[in-house]
Amino acid sequence: MEYKIAVIPGDGVGAEVTEAAQRLLSAAAARTGAKFQFTEKPAGGVALDAFGCPLPSDTVDACHHAQAVLLGAVGGPKWDNVEPALRAEKAILGLRQALGLYANLRPVRDWPAIRQCSPLKPDRIEGVDILLIRELTGGIYFGRRCESELSGDGCEQAWDTELYRRDEIERVVDFAIKAARIRRSRVTSVDKANVLASSRLWRRVADRMLSGQPGIEYNHLYVDNCAMQLILNPRQFDVIVTSNLFGDILSDEAAVLAGSIGMLPSASMGTVGGGLYEPVHGSAPDIAGRGVVNPIGAVLSASMLARYALNNSVIADAIERAVDKALDEGYRTADISHPGCVPVSTGQMTDAIIARLAL
Ligand code: IPM
Ligand code: MN
Repeated sequence: MEYKIAVIPGDGVGAEVTEAAQRLLSAAAARTGAKFQFTEKPAGGVALDAFGCPLPSDTVDACHHAQAVLLGAVGGPKWDNVEPALRAEKAILGLRQALGLYANLRPVRDWPAIRQCSPLKPDRIEGVDILLIRELTGGIYFGRRCESELSGDGCEQAWDTELYRRDEIERVVDFAIKAARIRRSRVTSVDKANVLASSRLWRRVADRMLSGQPGIEYNHLYVDNCAMQLILNPRQFDVIVTSNLFGDILSDEAAVLAGSIGMLPSASMGTVGGGLYEPVHGSAPDIAGRGVVNPIGAVLSASMLARYALNNSVIADAIERAVDKALDEGYRTADISHPGCVPVSTGQMTDAIIARLAL
């Protein structure tokens, strides 16, 4: 079996973490007789520098032809002052749109081994296991916005539009219901229906779908309350489903519950194709190129890729177990270090995980 994967290292620490993820996949495959064929493509600031465009069409084509896409991160201060249409972030937004990736899965769980790194007290974080599902191709990210922004310094006002269609809400809520059925059967839909018309539609549609599901327990929360509940009592959540912008914000908040955003993987799924897999952390330009970034977010994204895009739970489970083992044995990159741990670099953490692959 040969799997074809498009790899977009991108900017900052992207290349370091995608290398780690590829090494894990290749090592796991070699032990099962499978093989990975990785095709690297540019996107983000590096593509802007090389080709004058953050998302070359050749990169999009390669993603369409691959079974799945593995992405590092895009963006950085070097490209902060380019015009909006050329921003490095346009690469990831363009890919989400081109591949129709409407559901973004960001799982957050308690790792007992690094519980002490969480900003919350250990008894609050114990047993936390949340799947945050963020709508990814609609809402304010893709709504109309004022063009006067382009005129630069003379600009006195600016606006963006939050628009949701019924079918966009339905398909992501449906995804959440299916995910909840193979978890703890509980869904929390998050909106701001006390203020926003688009949120009132969101709540009506979500309520109608959720109330028709036997065996599914559900509730609605306003996003401000949800932000507070994530800190007060994160164990109450199973699946959270929300809009693009609210999901962006809540997923960063939820990510640190686990101890470090460096640990968190994500999967973006669409109607066709195997999806796109990337760590939740960004390009982290301040630590790029120093071999200190935590590779686990990318490594666990590779595990999600194996599970969802390739239907290979043998490789996926083996990677997850190897990560747990390395953590249990005390290996720590700088973001999760503590007294008494075994401090390691990005490469050493990757080696430690590979050495613990049991297949
Ligand atoms: C994320 C990122 C992106 C987003 C940026 C890089 C455009 O923050 O994946 O969460 O806002 O969606
Ligand atoms: Mn974000």
